[in-house]
Amino acid sequence: MLWHHRLLKDFHSRVLERNGLILTVAVLIVVSIGGLVEIAPLFYLNSTIEEVDGVRPYTPLELAGRDIYIREGCYTCHSQMVRPLRDEVERYGHYSLAAESMYDHPFQWGSKRTGPDLARVGGKYSDEWHRDHMRDPRSVVPESIMPPYAFLEESPLKYGHIVEMLKANRAVGVPYSDDMLDNAVADLKAQTDPFAGPDLTERYPGAVTREFDGNPDEITELDALIAYLQVLGTMVDFSTYEAEAEENLR
Ligand code: HEC
Repeated sequence: MLWHHRLLKDFHSRVLERNGLILTVAVLIVVSIGGLVEIAPLFYLNSTIEEVDGVRPYTPLELAGRDIYIREGCYTCHSQMVRPLRDEVERYGHYSLAAESMYDHPFQWGSKRTGPDLARVGGKYSDEWHRDHMRDPRSVVPESIMPPYAFLEESPLKYGHIVEMLKANRAVGVPYSDDMLDNAVADLKAQTDPFAGPDLTERYPGAVTREFDGNPDEITELDALIAYLQVLGTMVDFSTYEAEAEENLR
């Protein structure tokens, strides 16, 4: 046996294996080296999320709708995360990408599905369906156990703090521009006005402008909530996303 082998073996059997405390310290050192190697590089990356075309910050109206979704505790019954498992993908569509919730603060992945996942509910139903469903879920799904939220269409949306909401999101990394902040109130109103100009879609590509709750006289909480539900899962065009992914594999 070579001399340094013997030295190592002695250290092992005489020192480490006979002394619990030293062994513990040695284990800790070895484990923390492993930990550092895994974690340290992440501090030098600006983002661990791969950017995907089409993902944009929520419009002011969608953001206000998202707040109502949180206020009403919709997340206690609904998840927003399609897992990459065959049964989920067949039922809900393409599994969720990290980029799709990169502007969600806090994210709405949820942890319980009393009702179905909502990550791709956008465009699945008409605004009218959502109106009926929120007013009285059993009118469209007779076996539903979802509670009604009829008061939303009678509650005017309070948007006095919309600029602050955008600013708060900007503070945690959502790229709202000064232009977006300056026009937050105008954009919020424009999204429920089918005759509004193109300003909103220039700032938020792909945003849909509609009279979501069917009542042109006022902007209600239902307008905001439906605008939010209708955008969920629609930002990424998966026909081109898949093609690009295949292109990258070649
Ligand atoms: C007590 C649990 C519960 C709560 C709270 C709840 N839901 Fe539901 N939700 C359900 C159930 C169960 C269904 C499936 C039956 C149905 O369509 O009504 C459902 C269905 C839905 C659907 C249709 C999904 C699909 O793909 O068919 C939408 C949209 C929806 N809920 C939105 C909401 C919103 C928005 C809120 C909060 C304002 C909310 N839900 C709160 C239980 C709940």
